[in-house]
Amino acid sequence: MGQPLRVGIVGVGAISGQYLTTFARLASEGSDTVRLVAVADLDEIRAAAVAAEQGVRALTVDELIKDPEVDLVLNLTIPAAHAEIALQAIAAGKAVYGEKPLAATLEDARAVVDAARAAGVALGCAPDTVLGTGVQTARKAIDDGVIGAPIAATATMMTPGHERWHPNPDFYYQPGGGPLLDMGPYYVTTLVTLLGPVVSVVGAASHTRATREIGSGPRAGTVIPVDVDTHVTGVLRHASGALSTLVMSFDSVATRASEIEVHGQTGSLIVPDPNTFDGDVQLHELGGAWRTLPPSAGYRDAGRGYGIADLAATPPGVPARTNGDVAYHVLDIMTSLLAASATGTTVAVESTCERPAAVPLA
Ligand SMILES: NC(=O)c1ccc[n+]([C@@H]2O[C@H](COP(=O)([O-])OP(=O)(O)OC[C@H]3O[C@@H](n4cnc5c(N)ncnc54)[C@H](O)[C@@H]3O)[C@@H](O)[C@H]2O)c1
Repeated sequence: MGQPLRVGIVGVGAISGQYLTTFARLASEGSDTVRLVAVADLDEIRAAAVAAEQGVRALTVDELIKDPEVDLVLNLTIPAAHAEIALQAIAAGKAVYGEKPLAATLEDARAVVDAARAAGVALGCAPDTVLGTGVQTARKAIDDGVIGAPIAATATMMTPGHERWHPNPDFYYQPGGGPLLDMGPYYVTTLVTLLGPVVSVVGAASHTRATREIGSGPRAGTVIPVDVDTHVTGVLRHASGALSTLVMSFDSVATRASEIEVHGQTGSLIVPDPNTFDGDVQLHELGGAWRTLPPSAGYRDAGRGYGIADLAATPPGVPARTNGDVAYHVLDIMTSLLAASATGTTVAVESTCERPAAVPLA
Protein backbone atom coordinates (compact mmCIF):
# COMPACT_ATOMS: atom_id res chain seq x y z
CA MET A 1 0.00 0.00 0.00
CA GLY A 2 1.25 3.55 -0.75
CA GLN A 3 1.77 6.33 1.76
CA PRO A 4 -1.40 7.84 3.30
CA LEU A 5 -2.54 11.22 2.05
CA ARG A 6 -1.73 13.59 4.94
CA VAL A 7 -4.58 16.04 5.49
CA GLY A 8 -4.63 19.44 7.21
CA ILE A 9 -8.05 20.98 7.83
CA VAL A 10 -8.62 24.73 7.58
CA GLY A 11 -11.93 25.64 9.27
CA VAL A 12 -13.13 23.36 12.05
CA GLY A 13 -16.73 24.55 12.39
CA ALA A 14 -20.04 22.70 12.24
CA ILE A 15 -19.35 20.36 9.32
CA SER A 16 -15.81 19.36 10.33
CA GLY A 17 -17.11 16.78 12.82
CA GLN A 18 -18.51 14.64 10.00
CA TYR A 19 -15.11 14.53 8.25
CA LEU A 20 -13.34 13.70 11.53
CA THR A 21 -15.80 10.86 12.12
CA THR A 22 -15.11 9.46 8.64
CA PHE A 23 -11.32 9.68 9.08
CA ALA A 24 -11.57 7.92 12.45
CA ARG A 25 -13.79 5.24 10.97
CA LEU A 26 -11.53 4.60 8.00
CA ALA A 27 -8.58 4.29 10.40
CA SER A 28 -10.51 1.91 12.68
CA GLU A 29 -11.29 -0.26 9.64
CA GLY A 30 -7.57 -0.52 8.91
CA SER A 31 -7.62 1.84 5.90
CA ASP A 32 -4.60 4.13 5.84
CA THR A 33 -5.49 6.11 2.70
CA VAL A 34 -6.09 9.37 4.56
CA ARG A 35 -4.46 10.62 7.77
CA LEU A 36 -5.28 13.85 9.62
CA VAL A 37 -2.10 15.67 10.69
CA ALA A 38 -3.08 19.25 11.61
CA VAL A 39 -5.95 21.72 11.95
CA ALA A 40 -6.26 25.51 11.75
CA ASP A 41 -9.04 28.05 12.17
CA LEU A 42 -9.33 31.82 12.48
CA ASP A 43 -10.77 30.91 15.87
CA GLU A 44 -7.57 29.58 17.46
CA ILE A 45 -9.36 28.35 20.58
CA ARG A 46 -11.62 26.19 18.42
CA ALA A 47 -8.64 24.86 16.48
CA ALA A 48 -6.76 24.06 19.70
CA ALA A 49 -9.75 22.16 21.12
CA VAL A 50 -10.17 20.03 17.98
CA ALA A 51 -6.42 19.42 17.76
CA ALA A 52 -6.30 18.21 21.37
CA GLU A 53 -9.29 15.92 20.80
CA GLN A 54 -7.78 14.46 17.61
CA GLY A 55 -4.19 14.25 18.86
CA VAL A 56 -2.85 16.43 16.01
CA ARG A 57 -1.17 19.85 15.82
CA ALA A 58 -3.07 23.17 15.91
CA LEU A 59 -1.38 25.61 13.53
CA THR A 60 -2.14 29.04 12.14
CA VAL A 61 -3.71 28.96 8.66
CA ASP A 62 -0.47 30.14 7.12
CA GLU A 63 1.60 27.53 8.97
CA LEU A 64 -0.75 24.72 8.01
CA ILE A 65 -0.75 25.66 4.33
CA LYS A 66 3.07 25.69 4.27
CA ASP A 67 3.56 22.67 6.52
CA PRO A 68 5.77 20.04 4.83
CA GLU A 69 3.75 17.22 6.42
CA VAL A 70 0.48 18.38 4.82
CA ASP A 71 -0.21 16.87 1.37
CA LEU A 72 -3.82 18.03 1.03
CA VAL A 73 -5.57 21.07 2.50
CA LEU A 74 -9.16 20.24 3.43
CA ASN A 75 -10.92 23.60 3.13
CA LEU A 76 -13.98 23.64 5.41
CA THR A 77 -14.24 27.41 5.73
CA ILE A 78 -17.32 29.44 4.78
CA PRO A 79 -18.01 29.96 1.04
CA ALA A 80 -16.60 33.52 1.00
CA ALA A 81 -13.18 32.14 2.08
CA HIS A 82 -13.12 29.04 -0.17
CA ALA A 83 -11.19 30.59 -3.09
CA GLU A 84 -8.69 32.52 -0.97
CA ILE A 85 -7.68 29.46 1.07
CA ALA A 86 -7.64 27.19 -1.99
CA LEU A 87 -5.41 29.60 -3.96
CA GLN A 88 -2.97 29.91 -1.06
CA ALA A 89 -2.78 26.13 -0.69
CA ILE A 90 -2.29 25.58 -4.43
CA ALA A 91 0.46 28.23 -4.45
CA ALA A 92 2.18 26.20 -1.73
CA GLY A 93 1.98 23.09 -3.96
CA LYS A 94 -0.74 21.35 -1.93
CA ALA A 95 -3.65 19.34 -3.23
CA VAL A 96 -6.99 20.86 -2.17
CA TYR A 97 -10.38 19.39 -1.36
CA GLY A 98 -13.02 21.93 -0.38
CA GLU A 99 -16.55 22.14 0.87
CA LYS A 100 -19.12 23.33 -1.65
CA PRO A 101 -19.53 25.56 -3.48
CA LEU A 102 -16.10 25.58 -5.18
CA ALA A 103 -16.05 29.38 -4.67
CA ALA A 104 -18.54 32.13 -3.95
CA THR A 105 -18.32 33.45 -7.53
CA LEU A 106 -17.68 31.81 -10.89
CA GLU A 107 -14.67 34.09 -11.50
CA ASP A 108 -13.05 32.93 -8.27
CA ALA A 109 -13.83 29.30 -9.12
CA ARG A 110 -12.15 29.73 -12.53
CA ALA A 111 -9.06 31.11 -10.82
CA VAL A 112 -8.94 28.08 -8.49
CA VAL A 113 -9.39 25.52 -11.31
CA ASP A 114 -6.78 27.26 -13.50
CA ALA A 115 -4.28 27.58 -10.65
CA ALA A 116 -4.62 23.89 -9.71
CA ARG A 117 -4.18 22.83 -13.33
CA ALA A 118 -1.12 25.09 -13.80
CA ALA A 119 0.43 23.82 -10.56
CA GLY A 120 -0.37 20.19 -11.39
CA VAL A 121 -2.06 19.60 -8.02
CA ALA A 122 -5.26 17.64 -7.44
CA LEU A 123 -8.43 19.64 -6.83
CA GLY A 124 -11.54 18.07 -5.35
CA CYS A 125 -14.79 19.54 -4.12
CA ALA A 126 -17.85 18.43 -2.18
CA PRO A 127 -20.39 16.99 -2.51
CA ASP A 128 -19.11 13.44 -2.27
CA THR A 129 -22.59 12.21 -1.37
CA VAL A 130 -22.95 11.34 -5.08
CA LEU A 131 -20.40 8.54 -4.54
CA GLY A 132 -22.70 6.68 -2.11
CA THR A 133 -25.03 3.79 -2.93
CA GLY A 134 -28.09 6.07 -3.36
CA VAL A 135 -27.07 8.13 -6.37
CA GLN A 136 -24.74 5.45 -7.78
CA THR A 137 -27.45 2.76 -7.76
CA ALA A 138 -29.76 5.18 -9.60
CA ARG A 139 -26.99 5.95 -12.07
CA LYS A 140 -26.36 2.28 -12.74
CA ALA A 141 -30.08 1.72 -13.38
CA ILE A 142 -30.11 4.60 -15.88
CA ASP A 143 -26.86 3.49 -17.54
CA ASP A 144 -28.17 -0.09 -17.77
CA GLY A 145 -31.23 1.22 -19.67
CA VAL A 146 -33.72 0.21 -16.99
CA ILE A 147 -35.90 3.33 -17.55
CA GLY A 148 -35.18 3.64 -21.28
CA ALA A 149 -33.98 6.96 -22.69
CA PRO A 150 -34.09 9.58 -19.88
CA ILE A 151 -36.48 12.42 -20.73
CA ALA A 152 -36.83 14.52 -17.59
CA ALA A 153 -35.94 14.92 -13.93
CA THR A 154 -37.28 16.92 -11.01
CA ALA A 155 -35.20 18.16 -8.08
CA THR A 156 -36.94 19.67 -5.08
CA MET A 157 -35.40 21.10 -1.90
CA MET A 158 -37.90 23.02 0.21
CA THR A 159 -37.16 24.03 3.80
CA PRO A 160 -37.92 27.03 6.03
CA GLY A 161 -34.16 27.94 6.13
CA HIS A 162 -31.01 26.98 8.06
CA GLU A 163 -31.23 29.82 10.63
CA ARG A 164 -33.48 27.64 12.78
CA TRP A 165 -30.65 25.20 13.64
CA HIS A 166 -27.27 26.66 12.58
CA PRO A 167 -25.68 28.82 15.32
CA ASN A 168 -23.94 31.09 12.75
CA PRO A 169 -26.21 31.05 9.69
CA ASP A 170 -25.19 34.50 8.36
CA PHE A 171 -23.32 33.08 5.35
CA TYR A 172 -26.39 31.26 4.05
CA TYR A 173 -28.01 34.66 3.37
CA GLN A 174 -24.99 36.39 1.82
CA PRO A 175 -23.71 36.19 -1.79
CA GLY A 176 -22.31 32.67 -2.23
CA GLY A 177 -25.18 31.34 -0.09
CA GLY A 178 -28.95 31.11 -0.63
CA PRO A 179 -30.81 27.84 -1.24
CA LEU A 180 -29.38 27.36 -4.73
CA LEU A 181 -25.66 27.86 -4.03
CA ASP A 182 -25.90 26.17 -0.62
CA MET A 183 -28.07 23.11 -1.33
CA GLY A 184 -28.02 23.18 -5.14
CA PRO A 185 -24.57 21.53 -5.32
CA TYR A 186 -26.07 18.25 -3.99
CA TYR A 187 -28.94 18.32 -6.47
CA VAL A 188 -27.16 19.71 -9.51
CA THR A 189 -24.11 17.43 -9.04
CA THR A 190 -26.54 14.51 -8.85
CA LEU A 191 -28.35 15.62 -12.02
CA VAL A 192 -25.00 15.94 -13.85
CA THR A 193 -23.93 12.52 -12.52
CA LEU A 194 -27.20 10.94 -13.67
CA LEU A 195 -27.93 12.82 -16.90
CA GLY A 196 -24.66 14.51 -17.94
CA PRO A 197 -23.69 18.15 -18.47
CA VAL A 198 -26.10 21.06 -18.95
CA VAL A 199 -26.09 23.42 -21.96
CA SER A 200 -28.66 26.08 -21.03
CA VAL A 201 -31.00 27.22 -18.27
CA VAL A 202 -34.10 29.34 -17.67
CA GLY A 203 -35.29 30.40 -14.24
CA ALA A 204 -37.24 32.63 -11.89
CA ALA A 205 -36.42 33.52 -8.27
CA SER A 206 -37.75 35.60 -5.40
CA HIS A 207 -36.35 37.39 -2.33
CA THR A 208 -39.18 37.33 0.16
CA ARG A 209 -37.80 38.75 3.45
CA ALA A 210 -35.12 41.35 4.17
CA THR A 211 -34.06 39.70 7.46
CA ARG A 212 -34.05 36.36 9.31
CA GLU A 213 -33.79 35.56 13.04
CA ILE A 214 -31.24 33.06 14.42
CA GLY A 215 -33.13 30.27 16.17
CA SER A 216 -30.45 28.45 18.19
CA GLY A 217 -27.13 28.82 20.00
CA PRO A 218 -25.60 31.79 21.81
CA ARG A 219 -26.81 34.26 19.16
CA ALA A 220 -30.46 33.06 19.23
CA GLY A 221 -32.78 36.01 18.58
CA THR A 222 -30.18 37.97 16.58
CA VAL A 223 -31.62 39.40 13.36
CA ILE A 224 -29.41 38.93 10.28
CA PRO A 225 -29.71 40.51 6.80
CA VAL A 226 -30.82 38.54 3.74
CA ASP A 227 -28.99 39.62 0.57
CA VAL A 228 -29.85 36.69 -1.73
CA ASP A 229 -32.89 35.15 -3.44
CA THR A 230 -34.42 32.57 -1.11
CA HIS A 231 -36.79 30.77 -3.54
CA VAL A 232 -35.19 29.73 -6.83
CA THR A 233 -36.78 27.75 -9.66
CA GLY A 234 -35.44 26.74 -13.04
CA VAL A 235 -35.23 24.32 -15.92
CA LEU A 236 -31.87 22.84 -16.97
CA ARG A 237 -31.45 21.56 -20.53
CA HIS A 238 -28.89 18.73 -20.55
CA ALA A 239 -26.66 18.13 -23.58
CA SER A 240 -28.50 14.80 -23.94
CA GLY A 241 -31.79 16.70 -24.47
CA ALA A 242 -33.23 15.73 -21.06
CA LEU A 243 -34.85 18.55 -19.06
CA SER A 244 -34.47 18.88 -15.27
CA THR A 245 -36.88 21.05 -13.31
CA LEU A 246 -35.38 22.48 -10.11
CA VAL A 247 -36.99 24.12 -7.04
CA MET A 248 -34.63 25.24 -4.24
CA SER A 249 -36.25 27.14 -1.39
CA PHE A 250 -35.60 28.49 2.10
CA ASP A 251 -39.22 29.77 2.04
CA SER A 252 -41.23 26.56 2.45
CA VAL A 253 -42.66 25.00 5.57
CA ALA A 254 -42.79 21.41 4.32
CA THR A 255 -43.06 19.23 1.21
CA ARG A 256 -43.90 15.67 0.23
CA ALA A 257 -42.14 15.88 -3.14
CA SER A 258 -39.30 13.43 -3.81
CA GLU A 259 -35.91 15.10 -3.60
CA ILE A 260 -35.10 13.81 -7.10
CA GLU A 261 -37.09 11.85 -9.66
CA VAL A 262 -35.84 10.77 -13.09
CA HIS A 263 -38.32 9.85 -15.82
CA GLY A 264 -37.44 7.77 -18.89
CA GLN A 265 -39.44 6.34 -21.78
CA THR A 266 -40.15 3.06 -20.00
CA GLY A 267 -39.68 3.81 -16.31
CA SER A 268 -39.44 6.33 -13.47
CA LEU A 269 -36.92 6.40 -10.63
CA ILE A 270 -37.04 8.03 -7.21
CA VAL A 271 -33.50 8.92 -6.14
CA PRO A 272 -32.84 9.28 -2.39
CA ASP A 273 -31.87 12.58 -0.73
CA PRO A 274 -28.66 13.72 -2.48
CA ASN A 275 -27.49 15.31 0.79
CA THR A 276 -27.04 11.75 2.09
CA PHE A 277 -24.95 8.84 0.83
CA ASP A 278 -27.47 6.02 0.84
CA GLY A 279 -31.23 5.48 0.97
CA ASP A 280 -33.57 3.48 -1.24
CA VAL A 281 -33.80 3.91 -4.99
CA GLN A 282 -37.33 3.15 -6.21
CA LEU A 283 -38.25 2.06 -9.71
CA HIS A 284 -41.63 2.07 -11.45
CA GLU A 285 -41.60 0.37 -14.85
CA LEU A 286 -44.34 0.99 -17.39
CA GLY A 287 -47.30 -1.22 -16.44
CA GLY A 288 -45.69 -2.20 -13.13
CA ALA A 289 -45.64 -0.79 -9.59
CA TRP A 290 -43.08 0.91 -7.35
CA ARG A 291 -40.35 -1.41 -6.09
CA THR A 292 -37.06 -0.83 -4.29
CA LEU A 293 -33.82 -1.59 -6.09
CA PRO A 294 -31.10 -3.21 -3.96
CA PRO A 295 -27.85 -1.21 -3.78
CA SER A 296 -25.89 -2.12 -6.90
CA ALA A 297 -23.18 0.56 -7.06
CA GLY A 298 -21.38 3.12 -4.90
CA TYR A 299 -19.54 3.20 -1.57
CA ARG A 300 -21.61 1.50 1.13
CA ASP A 301 -22.13 3.25 4.48
CA ALA A 302 -20.08 6.22 3.27
CA GLY A 303 -19.79 9.62 4.97
CA ARG A 304 -18.37 13.07 4.26
CA GLY A 305 -14.68 12.60 3.48
CA TYR A 306 -15.08 9.61 1.13
CA GLY A 307 -14.40 12.00 -1.75
CA ILE A 308 -10.93 12.57 -0.29
CA ALA A 309 -10.29 8.84 0.13
CA ASP A 310 -11.49 8.41 -3.47
CA LEU A 311 -9.11 11.18 -4.59
CA ALA A 312 -6.27 9.57 -2.64
CA ALA A 313 -6.92 6.27 -4.45
CA THR A 314 -7.08 7.91 -7.92
CA PRO A 315 -3.89 7.34 -9.97
CA PRO A 316 -1.87 10.51 -10.74
CA GLY A 317 -3.01 12.22 -13.94
CA VAL A 318 -6.53 10.75 -13.74
CA PRO A 319 -9.21 13.24 -12.60
CA ALA A 320 -10.76 12.33 -9.26
CA ARG A 321 -14.52 11.75 -9.33
CA THR A 322 -15.15 14.92 -7.31
CA ASN A 323 -12.84 16.96 -9.54
CA GLY A 324 -12.73 20.72 -10.03
CA ASP A 325 -14.17 20.60 -13.58
CA VAL A 326 -17.37 18.99 -12.28
CA ALA A 327 -17.59 21.48 -9.38
CA TYR A 328 -16.95 24.40 -11.77
CA HIS A 329 -19.64 23.21 -14.19
CA VAL A 330 -22.10 22.79 -11.31
CA LEU A 331 -21.35 26.34 -10.09
CA ASP A 332 -21.64 27.62 -13.68
CA ILE A 333 -25.09 26.00 -13.99
CA MET A 334 -26.21 27.59 -10.71
CA THR A 335 -24.85 31.09 -11.43
CA SER A 336 -26.31 30.90 -14.96
CA LEU A 337 -29.67 30.02 -13.41
CA LEU A 338 -29.48 33.06 -11.11
CA ALA A 339 -28.55 35.21 -14.14
CA ALA A 340 -31.45 33.74 -16.14
CA SER A 341 -33.80 34.53 -13.23
CA ALA A 342 -32.54 38.10 -12.95
CA THR A 343 -32.83 38.79 -16.70
CA GLY A 344 -35.81 36.63 -17.63
CA THR A 345 -33.84 35.04 -20.46
CA THR A 346 -32.41 31.69 -21.47
CA VAL A 347 -28.73 31.61 -20.49
CA ALA A 348 -26.24 29.33 -22.24
CA VAL A 349 -23.95 27.43 -19.84
CA GLU A 350 -20.48 27.95 -21.28
CA SER A 351 -18.62 25.20 -19.42
CA THR A 352 -19.02 21.46 -19.57
CA CYS A 353 -17.49 18.40 -17.91
CA GLU A 354 -17.15 14.67 -18.27
CA ARG A 355 -19.56 12.60 -16.19
CA PRO A 356 -17.38 11.37 -13.33
CA ALA A 357 -16.55 7.65 -13.51
CA ALA A 358 -19.19 5.36 -12.00
CA VAL A 359 -18.39 3.84 -8.59
CA PRO A 360 -18.63 0.04 -8.48
CA LEU A 361 -20.28 -1.41 -5.36
CA ALA A 362 -17.58 -1.21 -2.67
N1 LIG B 1 -23.13 22.92 8.55
C1 LIG B 1 -23.53 21.98 7.70
O1 LIG B 1 -24.43 21.17 7.99
C2 LIG B 1 -22.86 21.83 6.35
C3 LIG B 1 -23.20 20.71 5.60
C4 LIG B 1 -22.55 20.50 4.39
C5 LIG B 1 -21.65 21.43 3.93
N2 LIG B 1 -21.37 22.54 4.65
C6 LIG B 1 -20.42 23.51 4.09
O2 LIG B 1 -19.25 23.51 4.89
C7 LIG B 1 -18.67 24.82 4.90
C8 LIG B 1 -18.52 25.27 6.33
O3 LIG B 1 -19.81 25.26 6.92
P1 LIG B 1 -19.97 25.17 8.50
O4 LIG B 1 -21.42 24.98 8.71
O5 LIG B 1 -19.00 24.21 9.07
O6 LIG B 1 -19.59 26.69 8.88
P2 LIG B 1 -19.10 27.21 10.31
O7 LIG B 1 -19.30 28.68 10.29
O8 LIG B 1 -19.72 26.39 11.39
O9 LIG B 1 -17.54 26.86 10.29
C9 LIG B 1 -16.62 27.51 9.44
C10 LIG B 1 -15.29 27.60 10.18
O10 LIG B 1 -14.33 28.16 9.30
C11 LIG B 1 -13.60 29.16 10.01
N3 LIG B 1 -13.12 30.12 9.03
C12 LIG B 1 -13.87 30.99 8.29
N4 LIG B 1 -13.07 31.70 7.47
C13 LIG B 1 -11.81 31.27 7.69
C14 LIG B 1 -10.55 31.62 7.15
N5 LIG B 1 -10.41 32.57 6.23
N6 LIG B 1 -9.46 30.97 7.62
C15 LIG B 1 -9.58 30.01 8.56
N7 LIG B 1 -10.75 29.64 9.12
C16 LIG B 1 -11.84 30.27 8.69
C17 LIG B 1 -14.58 29.73 11.02
O11 LIG B 1 -13.91 30.34 12.10
C18 LIG B 1 -15.35 28.48 11.42
O12 LIG B 1 -14.76 27.80 12.50
C19 LIG B 1 -19.58 25.70 4.04
O13 LIG B 1 -19.08 25.78 2.72
C20 LIG B 1 -20.91 24.94 4.03
O14 LIG B 1 -21.64 25.19 2.85
C21 LIG B 1 -21.94 22.76 5.87
